[in-house]
Amino acid sequence: MPDNRKALTILGAGKLGIVLAQLAVRAGYVVYIAGSAGAEKIRLTVQVLAPGAIAATADDAIRQSDIVILALPLGKYRTIPKELLADKLVIDAMNYWWEVDGERDDLANPQSSSSEVVRDYLGNPRLVKAFSHMGYHHLLDEAKPSGSPGRKAIAVAGDNQTDNESVAALVNDLGFDPLLIGPLHAGKQLEPGHEAFGANVDAGTLRQYVGL
Ligand SMILES: NC(=O)c1ccc[n+]([C@@H]2O[C@H](COP(=O)([O-])OP(=O)(O)OC[C@H]3O[C@@H](n4cnc5c(N)ncnc54)[C@H](OP(=O)(O)O)[C@@H]3O)[C@@H](O)[C@H]2O)c1
Repeated sequence: MPDNRKALTILGAGKLGIVLAQLAVRAGYVVYIAGSAGAEKIRLTVQVLAPGAIAATADDAIRQSDIVILALPLGKYRTIPKELLADKLVIDAMNYWWEVDGERDDLANPQSSSSEVVRDYLGNPRLVKAFSHMGYHHLLDEAKPSGSPGRKAIAVAGDNQTDNESVAALVNDLGFDPLLIGPLHAGKQLEPGHEAFGANVDAGTLRQYVGL
C-alpha cells in the first residue's frame, strides 16, 4: 500500500521541535526530526516524547520532505545545510534570544526581521515565518480541531502567497487558526520585544497585536 501521508521535516529536536513533531504525528504527517548530531543522540527522546516521529540526521531528514521547519537556536542558523534547502518550503520558527544566542549584531538589526537574515543566508525566497511566537507548552496544550471554540491562532508571514497558504494549511492541521500577517518583513512584529511575542490568543486578538 502506498503511504499517502504528507511528510514534514523538523530541524531541532529540543522543546519546540519535539512538540511540533508530536502535533504533526497526531495530525497524520510522517515526521522526520533531526538535532545537531546523529540520529542516535535523539532516538530515545523522540521515541518517548514524540512517538511515531522518525529520528534522522539533518541531511537525511531534509531529503524526505518538501517542507522543513527550522526549530534550532537562531544563533546557529549558519550551521543549517542551505544547499539541501534550495527547493524546499522552509518555515522559520526561530527567535533571537540573546541569553541563548549571545550578543549578535547580525541578528539585532532594527531594519530587518531575523527571518530576512535567515532567508538571505539560505538564499531561499520561499522562507515563511510561523510557529515562532507561542511557547512550546502552549502549543502542546492548546492545539484543537478546526472550529473548536476558543481556538488559538498562529501568525504566518511570508513573501509568496502560495507558500503562505501551504503553511496556513499546516498550522490548521496542527491545531491552530492561521493568521496571515503580510510579507516576511512583517514577521518583525512577532519577535521578542513586540506585543505578539508569546501570544497565546485567538485570531481576533492576535490581529490587534500585529496592528491589522
Ligand atoms: N521553546 C519555545 O517555547 C519556543 C517557542 C517558539 C519558538 N522557539 C524558537 O525555537 C528555537 C528552538 O528553541 P528550543 O526552545 O526548542 O531550543 P532547545 O530546546 O535548546 O533545542 C534546540 C535544538 O536545536 C538543535 N540544533 C542545534 N543546531 C542544529 C542544527 N544545525 N540542525 C538541527 N538541529 C540543531 C539542538 O541540538 P543539540 O542539542 O544536539 O545541539 C536542539 O535539539 C529557538 O530559536 C527559539 O527561539 C522556541
